[in-house]
Amino acid sequence: MIMMTWPWRALPPLAAGLLLLLSSPAASIDTITVEAPLEGNRTLVSAGGTFALGFFDAAAGHTYLGIWYNNIPARTVVWVANRRSPVVGSVAAAELKIDSNGSLAIVQAQRSVVWVSPGAAGNATALLLDNGNLVLRFAGGGVAWQSFDYPTDTLLPGMKLGVDLRTGLDRYMSSWRLADDPSPGEYTFRIDTHGSPEFFLYRWSMRTYGSGPWNGYQFSGVPNLRTNTLLSYQFMSTAKEAYYQYDLDGGATVLTRFVMNSSGQIQRLMWIDTTRSWSVFSSYPMDECEAYRACGAYGVCNVETSPMCGCPVGFEPRYPQAWALRDGSGGCIRRTPLNCTGDGFAVARNMKLPESANATVDMALGLEECRLRCLSNCACRAYASANVTSPGAKGCFMWTGDLLDMRRFDNGGQDLFIRLAASDLPTNSLSDNSQTAMLVSIIVPSVVALLLLLGGLVICVIKVKDNKKAIPSVLNNGQDTPFGQRNHNAAAINNRQVTPIGRRNHIAATNDAQDNNSWHPTIEQGSHQDLDLPSFDVATILYATSNFSSDNKLGQGGFGPVYMGRLDNGQDIAVKRLSRRSTQGLREFKNEVKLIAKLQHRNLVRLLGCCIDGSERMLVYEYMHNRSLNTFLFNEEKQSMLNWAKRFNIINGIARGILYLHQDSALRIIHRDLKASNILLDRDMNPKISDFGVARIFGTDQTTAYTKKVVGTYGYMSPEYAMDGVFSMKSDVFSFGVLVLEIVSGKKNRGFYHNELDLNLLRYAWRLWKEGRSLEFLDQSIVGTSSNVTEVLRCIQIGLLCVQEQPRHRPTMSAVTLMLGSESPALHEPCEPAFSTGRSLSDDTEASRSNSARSWTATAIEGR
Ligand SMILES: *[C@@H]1O[C@H](CO)[C@@H](O)[C@H](O)[C@H]1NC(C)=O
Ligand SMILES: *[C@@H]1O[C@H](CO)[C@@H](O)[C@H](O)[C@H]1NC(C)=O
Ligand SMILES: *[C@@H]1O[C@H](CO)[C@@H](O)[C@H](O)[C@H]1NC(C)=O
Ligand SMILES: *[C@@H]1O[C@H](CO)[C@@H](O)[C@H](O)[C@H]1NC(C)=O
Ligand SMILES: *[C@@H]1O[C@H](CO)[C@@H](O)[C@H](O)[C@H]1NC(C)=O
Ligand SMILES: *[C@@H]1O[C@H](CO)[C@@H](O)[C@H](O)[C@H]1NC(C)=O
Ligand SMILES: *[C@@H]1O[C@H](CO)[C@@H](O)[C@H](O)[C@H]1NC(C)=O
Repeated sequence: MIMMTWPWRALPPLAAGLLLLLSSPAASIDTITVEAPLEGNRTLVSAGGTFALGFFDAAAGHTYLGIWYNNIPARTVVWVANRRSPVVGSVAAAELKIDSNGSLAIVQAQRSVVWVSPGAAGNATALLLDNGNLVLRFAGGGVAWQSFDYPTDTLLPGMKLGVDLRTGLDRYMSSWRLADDPSPGEYTFRIDTHGSPEFFLYRWSMRTYGSGPWNGYQFSGVPNLRTNTLLSYQFMSTAKEAYYQYDLDGGATVLTRFVMNSSGQIQRLMWIDTTRSWSVFSSYPMDECEAYRACGAYGVCNVETSPMCGCPVGFEPRYPQAWALRDGSGGCIRRTPLNCTGDGFAVARNMKLPESANATVDMALGLEECRLRCLSNCACRAYASANVTSPGAKGCFMWTGDLLDMRRFDNGGQDLFIRLAASDLPTNSLSDNSQTAMLVSIIVPSVVALLLLLGGLVICVIKVKDNKKAIPSVLNNGQDTPFGQRNHNAAAINNRQVTPIGRRNHIAATNDAQDNNSWHPTIEQGSHQDLDLPSFDVATILYATSNFSSDNKLGQGGFGPVYMGRLDNGQDIAVKRLSRRSTQGLREFKNEVKLIAKLQHRNLVRLLGCCIDGSERMLVYEYMHNRSLNTFLFNEEKQSMLNWAKRFNIINGIARGILYLHQDSALRIIHRDLKASNILLDRDMNPKISDFGVARIFGTDQTTAYTKKVVGTYGYMSPEYAMDGVFSMKSDVFSFGVLVLEIVSGKKNRGFYHNELDLNLLRYAWRLWKEGRSLEFLDQSIVGTSSNVTEVLRCIQIGLLCVQEQPRHRPTMSAVTLMLGSESPALHEPCEPAFSTGRSLSDDTEASRSNSARSWTATAIEGR
């Protein structure tokens, strides 16, 4: 959990300069002996100068013995010895010594002992190590006692959190009572080793959060667990001990700590030297689904739905009315009681596993044996793999009690197989088709919930997880038969249309018959030539868009207005009316449409076809329900909806889409107008690039790399393209870099101007980078939410590499996707980005928005 996620929310390689540890060589004494106690007014400094040990004043005139960072101005205490028994009075009254038994003892006013360490070692010495550990040593060197075994509210690198099953030593975190009162507070965070080990956060003795059981690879409630280049973590679970630990990787000199504050928030903090402050890198619990047993027995929590509680398939809410009011704690009940003999299993995907305290864990069973074992035990309610490190690995969880504290993730999590009566099994369940089923039924999206509240309607929408089958066109990833879906539309249209305009389809077909198909040799179209040019009737389009009513207008795109429409079969479309006159003839136009329509990729908006009416030409696209990226990114109210995970997904998706255009598609297409408004978002906020290939359709995309008609948008255009009209794939890379920096910062490149520093966005990003302050570049609206710092910094670096002035210094898109995907990239250091040396384009219009094919290249060249 928590701790697991934090290691990778750590620092990138570049951080060396960002957070460095000022080691002032310590002429220090780091040892206490019988002969040399520690007076209250003195501190002990570790050999490397990192940590100090001494007495400090806290609230109410109490004095405590603590360890803090030696080089940080504001004292940051990481460990306290005598939390329950402070010295009453100032530090001068306190003393730390080794007593006659060889234990460490805190003595008040040279008489009364207020605290004694549990271990004793005869003639001992106490040594403060440079990792912050205070160790009491026997004369021979063995460890009698160490502060790392008794954590307070802080876990430092190298400390273990967990139990030693042989000695019973339980190392857990416990919060301070108040920010200035180190006595034990309300919260503890500790491991439970019943079943499979799981960490729980407690308030007093009540659990408030569970990490999910360990599944051999990670804690199942923390699926993002990763190790990165700076920090590594390990979880050890053996018969002897079970603990979590994180470490700084070799040579890293950052200061990082993992701390539970007095409100029970667990945070990963890093010391930022430039700002001279601790920066919170993540904070847990972070969402409502992390509330312990948020959705009751058999309930499944999912933050992406509203209400957040849902039931697995075969279950329904125990108290439907309470659920409508967003109280899911009553949980779910079975539709049909179990009948031991006829039962089966339905798989729930992407799950945080239920608590395993009462579960049986058998590491000798494979998944199929696990299923059979569970099936043969009438009390067994669910099973799952207990070792997900590799698909065939052995390990079996079997739950016999209620399933508690489950949640569902968008990504990550694992399969949970829930027992159901035969009549409740989904048709394609395990009994006939072992892996394909599962569904978690989600009770109603929010609008419906509202209706429910207002009108008492009871509507239950079952969300099918595997909706690829349900909506093939939306999720087409290029695997389907080309145009299969569209042909279906066309058929529907043709059946309906009896108007004379319907014949246009046939015109198209005639032309196709004359075409030689050499440019799409890989696509076998058989004898249906008209399948090649997906074309729509004007009447169909008029009907779908309500005669291009202004209500249906989505916006003004680069080449003309765009309207939303709905076809008879219910499919939503977006229609772009091309207002610019193509330089091409009809036949070339159609050829291009055919080619572009064949480009199918998860991250491209699909061109469904065209519609030609006299001289008017229209392009018909699939409709994207969340409109375009700029409507979220640059909108103060909406930008926080794009958390870092979503932004990173969007950056990756855009990169893959461009890579496909540049390299992997049959055509090599340079987009030339990449910008936030051309990135559309589907229902799941996956990015899809639109408007690609339009330049080709217009005939401006000649084979030469020189163009008189510049298509593009100020702010995203590479210098060589804006100034000289020279375009290449590297100009798209430049635009991509601008986009990445906009996505990270939530600020428009165009329009961004840093008053004090006289900087545009790119230069601002570079300046922060150079100063090691890149994290300040991150969008303020998502700061403080959980952002993977490594990813953020990597994205900024990639963005900067993409906006280099010289095209040859910019990476290719394939290199970019590699860099985005790799955990430990050796990225180049960027140089100063383009457009940063004074010359600014002040024109605020988008070239591509002009209605005429305005050629302003000449002006731009004059400006040089
Ligand atoms: C600490 O106090 C002792 C006596 O209480 C005194 O002798 C010593 O000089 C003081 N040391 C410092 C560093 O103030
Ligand atoms: C030393 O240990 C013995 C036995 O545990 C105990 O009775 C005694 O009080 C200890 N002495 C000191 C100074 O703590
Ligand atoms: C205790 O150990 C120190 C060093 O390890 C040594 O100098 C000292 O003589 C020892 N004292 C006794 C009483 O053994
Ligand atoms: C604990 O951390 C949370 C999250 O950062 C913060 O909102 C809260 O104020 C902190 N509580 C204290 C007492 O510092
Ligand atoms: C359980 O199912 C079997 C077969 O479907 C049926 O014969 C039996 O009567 C059922 N038992 C109960 C208690 O419903
Ligand atoms: C485990 O079993 C005990 C005793 O039956 C019960 O009190 C407890 O709630 C169960 N825990 C879980 C997580 O099911
Ligand atoms: C999990 O499976 C992997 C691969 O089969 C194996 O190496 C590992 O030891 C297993 N872990 C446990 C805890 O059994």
